Amino acid sequence: MAQGSQEMIDPFGRRITYLRVSVTDRCDFRCLYCMAEDMTFLPKQDLLTLEEIDRLASAFVAKGMRKLRLTGGEPLVRKNVMWLIRSLSRHLGAGLEELTLTTNGSQLWRHAEQLVDCGVKRINVSLDTLDPAKFRVITRWGDFAQVMRGIDAADRAGIKVKINAVALRDVNEDEIEGLVRWSHGRGFDLTLIETMPMGEIGTDRTDQYLPLSLVRARLNDRFTFEESSYRSGGPARYVHVRETGGRLGFITPLTHNFCESCNRVRVTCTGTLFMCLGQDDAADLRAPLRASEADELLHAAIDAAIARKPKGHDFVIERGEKPTVSRHMSATGG
Ligand code: 5AD
Ligand code: SF4
Repeated sequence: MAQGSQEMIDPFGRRITYLRVSVTDRCDFRCLYCMAEDMTFLPKQDLLTLEEIDRLASAFVAKGMRKLRLTGGEPLVRKNVMWLIRSLSRHLGAGLEELTLTTNGSQLWRHAEQLVDCGVKRINVSLDTLDPAKFRVITRWGDFAQVMRGIDAADRAGIKVKINAVALRDVNEDEIEGLVRWSHGRGFDLTLIETMPMGEIGTDRTDQYLPLSLVRARLNDRFTFEESSYRSGGPARYVHVRETGGRLGFITPLTHNFCESCNRVRVTCTGTLFMCLGQDDAADLRAPLRASEADELLHAAIDAAIARKPKGHDFVIERGEKPTVSRHMSATGG
């Protein structure tokens, strides 16, 4: 069969059209809910080269990916990552419909223009607070002003910005209304996320967990929500906020399972394919990638992995419990 005409359907009839690629597990922040402060990262020699990531992602595009999202860690801290983005942009309009990234925004000020040039039209920026002091507490290492400068640069360059905020009990729960008003005031969609039990972070996540059902009920006192059928291709469910005219998304892995419509898989920066964010089963793609210059082995390994994509995750957050999956979000990207 011609490679460009392949499609991947998993055992539950879901079409897999969305690949998220973590280009590095490193990050210039140490967000409370994501990492321990003394995180150990992978030795650099374990990483796929940018050329290998390009080949791997391109194999997926040949197998029917419509959307490619680069994540991390922080994707823009990987050296020469713009080379990769530029290279992958060759698939746009040739099977690939969207090339995008999830970023903490710290390096956007220097890359925004080039991203546009590479056909990046939308990006997700993680921002959990508008208070610079609190931003420093949450990210431990982040500089709020630098992130704002990055968001401004992206906006000015014509990139559509979506803000992602993790709802954290006692940390930013009093600020969610402000985040809605600010994001919508700037013309950005906002998506709220529940913290997921991924990786040891040195503290108990029960203390951070804030169910979005509660957040939503509180926001409902302030705003009028109109149900929206809009889908961004991810797991968020959206409402239209009448007062602000903006769109608000909810990603609720804990309070609602969103797996029925899952269309995505994730590859780490070492070439490990995870078929589900909330399960440990994985497939090594680095060995078949390196075994031969032709892509047959790689394609076969991808097919075998998709054939065992699980039905869904079963995240639970309970006091004293270990994280549901031991790897951090920064290993597989959000
Ligand atoms: N639970 C929920 N979201 C997380 N993120 C990182 N770690 C977690 C977690 N444990 C978020 C980041 C970013 C996205 C990539 O994932 O804030 O928005
Ligand atoms: Fe870095 Fe994102 Fe994790 Fe924060 S949440 S430490 S920005 S990867």
